[in-house]
Amino acid sequence: MKVLVIGSGGREHAFVWKLNNSKKVSNILCVPGNAGMSEMGVCVDIGILDFPGLVKLVKENNVDLTIVGPEVPLVSGIVDYFQNEGLAIFGPNKKAAQLEGSKIFAKEFMSKYNIPTARFDVFDDPQEAKKCVEKVGVPLVVKADGLAGGKGVIICKTKPEAIAAIDMIMVERKFGSAGDKIIIEEMVVGEEASLMAFCDGETVLPMISSQDHKRVFDGDEGTNTGGMGAYAPAPVITEEIYEQTKKEVFENFIIGLKKEGIEYKGVVYAGVVITKKGPKVLEFNVRFGDPETQVVLPLLKSDMLDIISAVIDKKLDKLVIEWEKKSCVCVVLTSQGYPGSYEKEKEISGLENTKKIKDVVAFHSGTAFSSEKKLQTAGGRVLGVTALGDSLDKAINLTYQTIDKIKFEGMHYRKDIGARGIKKN
Ligand code: GLY
Repeated sequence: MKVLVIGSGGREHAFVWKLNNSKKVSNILCVPGNAGMSEMGVCVDIGILDFPGLVKLVKENNVDLTIVGPEVPLVSGIVDYFQNEGLAIFGPNKKAAQLEGSKIFAKEFMSKYNIPTARFDVFDDPQEAKKCVEKVGVPLVVKADGLAGGKGVIICKTKPEAIAAIDMIMVERKFGSAGDKIIIEEMVVGEEASLMAFCDGETVLPMISSQDHKRVFDGDEGTNTGGMGAYAPAPVITEEIYEQTKKEVFENFIIGLKKEGIEYKGVVYAGVVITKKGPKVLEFNVRFGDPETQVVLPLLKSDMLDIISAVIDKKLDKLVIEWEKKSCVCVVLTSQGYPGSYEKEKEISGLENTKKIKDVVAFHSGTAFSSEKKLQTAGGRVLGVTALGDSLDKAINLTYQTIDKIKFEGMHYRKDIGARGIKKN
């Protein structure tokens, strides 16, 4: 089978790595891919929103299946476009992708179908939004309705912070039309975790739980990033919470989809806060998480292609997904200055020394080969060094021992990935 993977980050490198282990996969194409993906597949430089260009590539190369990593093409309707051309593609269609594309759509869906979530109000007028801040008080969360590259959610501990957030989104229009409307949401207290699930529209099969580390510095200090590391499983999702999430979140999710006439085939990612009363959904994403995928796929024993085929054929109910009884940790190595401005084209050394280490894989995010074929940094998040272990602390130790072998100028990483999971063991 020939597969096309769309995207260029660590998540997509993890797809390619997992698919490369499948006997059923003969060739992998990547658009646009990265240096790591180019070692297992052929990278083609086409825009991920150039749907006619992508369809042409798929038809000319007899690609059997396309797998989409990032949310932007999903929200823009890539799945509908491919399906109209009679091509097999893994991911939710445009209507379903609104669950990530519009936070208001997602919140109203949750509230209508009894999916536990924080209380919220919707505003299209900044003055009305500011009156609400005066009325409900702080802390609270201000969210831009549309996609804002992970920067549209602002936690406000003081009223001036909340007013500034409203102005930034609705008056200064930092995120353009994504800020036409906002949500003001109750701040929910508890630890956050992620539960991703495969969904064929009838059946939801949750994966192993995981936990992301969004802040740039140790101890969850500093600004939010695209993710500095993750580990799986996350002990904060106890068996009880897992079952509760399955029932209260995913079963109601399916009921809601059916009532709304939405076909949902792909992965649904529930970002949850574990409160004293159980899980509350912070957000739905309509795709695999990054860097959660980098710790969940190495624990997947089953063939990823079998699961994707079952989703597309609506046969998930017939499938039992098998998982390793191990832990997995991914620590992201970033360029100096990330998530602010940073320099690129720093030579990366030592990666070759890690390739033969058992239970270790370095997923590439922002990497490229120079004209002299030297591996260089090409983005803010550069590599996700990932290791498996029989326990979480063994996985953590192996990850950090491996990082010691890798170097590039300005390399930054958190030293406490997984530490919250250890405290709970
Ligand atoms: N790790 C969060 C996300 O993928 O959106």
